[in-house]
Amino acid sequence: MIGSAPHISTPHPGPVTRELIDRVRAAEAHAGLTFGLSDVPPVLVRAEGAVIEDPDGNRFLDMVAGFGSLNLGHSHPEVVEATARQLGLGQQAMSMASIVRTDLVERLAALVPGLPKVMLGASGSEATETALKLVRRATGKHGVIAFAGGFHGRTMGALALMGRASQREGLGSLGHVIHLPYPHPLHSPFGTDPKTVVETTLDLIDSQLRDPAGGWDQVGAVVVEPVQGNGGMIPAPDGFVSGLREVCNRHDVVLVVDEVMSGFHRTGHRFAFEHDAGVTPDIVIMGKSLSAGLPLSGILVSSDVANASHAGTETSTYAGNLVSCAAALAADAVYERERMSAVAHARATHLMAELHRAFDSHPMVGEVRGRGLMVAVEFTDGDGSALAVGREISHGCVERGLLVYPGGHHGNVVAMLPPLVATDDQLSTAVEVLATATRAALSTKN
Ligand SMILES: Cc1ncc(COP(=O)(O)O)c(C=O)c1O
Repeated sequence: MIGSAPHISTPHPGPVTRELIDRVRAAEAHAGLTFGLSDVPPVLVRAEGAVIEDPDGNRFLDMVAGFGSLNLGHSHPEVVEATARQLGLGQQAMSMASIVRTDLVERLAALVPGLPKVMLGASGSEATETALKLVRRATGKHGVIAFAGGFHGRTMGALALMGRASQREGLGSLGHVIHLPYPHPLHSPFGTDPKTVVETTLDLIDSQLRDPAGGWDQVGAVVVEPVQGNGGMIPAPDGFVSGLREVCNRHDVVLVVDEVMSGFHRTGHRFAFEHDAGVTPDIVIMGKSLSAGLPLSGILVSSDVANASHAGTETSTYAGNLVSCAAALAADAVYERERMSAVAHARATHLMAELHRAFDSHPMVGEVRGRGLMVAVEFTDGDGSALAVGREISHGCVERGLLVYPGGHHGNVVAMLPPLVATDDQLSTAVEVLATATRAALSTKN
């Protein structure tokens, strides 16, 4: 056992951490470094469950879980065992069949009735690209509706969907994407009542798809996160995804649901779209916790849409890598045996209660929200304008031995994506540390 966290024996960053950060900064181009939590993030030497140990003897409580790729926590023993076994049996077979890949695709093909076909990739971005290409081939249309604040990856096609304009800066035209406001009642231009916000957003899409003058007749797909993750853990209100389904049916538009972050039991369902009962998307994009921290992604897709492609057009060298497939099968066994949706639901109930207790009465808190173990606190100043303190609070948390996820449309959100294996005690500790770091950061803003 690695021990409990937080444990800061040397003020962060300790000397070895500092040296390693300097070395990586010198060698790696800054565009490739994802130091999203803090300018001086911890250095991972060893990790287990929800605990990360650095080279200076400090331990951090991890409430980011590899940005949602570690629903089973770091180095889950069954995932470690399965991947080590597969490494000894052969690690890569692009142009051959294999037992692990066959077992995995059969299992995935049975997950969502109506989506019997699977296509594998190596990253969430690649799976998004595959989905976009299938839509074009199946519909003959190149337009896409996506949402402000959305995140679907950083390759060129996925980036066209990016709902954070700054990330597309300087790249010119990436594709025909219409960005609409995500139905977040706290900020929606359509009011504060969730039902009205949903209905108005859906009416807007419906009426524009009907009107040839606007050019929306070229729209082949709607791509949506059922819980907007990077945008600040914003759950779509009830009825939004099912309403999109109806609008898409009416106009022959493909409904693509991005479950890269929200998938694999994190929200109390295997997929977050299941929150609206009875919905079947045309494409589900998967990644991250599909394979418990090894590189693998995929889409689940209807036969009609899948058949629009020619054989072999949507694959890549590491798509379906054998070690990643073994990890995915091991993770699936644990998800099922441990009833991980129910576990996530129970942990989330505890975590939300703790967050409400700590933050509800704070004058600079605009909202405490979440669905399952995708939770966030949004900060505002006295007038209700965004207070961009996410990164500062996150940095304060790192100094205190806690990893949280700064984000939101204005950098005014601190989110948590804990591993589903975190205990109630660890979640309570995380909220306590977050509250302390928040007090420290906000004390200078009065
Ligand atoms: C919702 C969503 N879709 C797609 C992606 C892209 O996945 P990847 O970073 O594996 O390319 C991410 C990554 O954070 C994501 O959160």
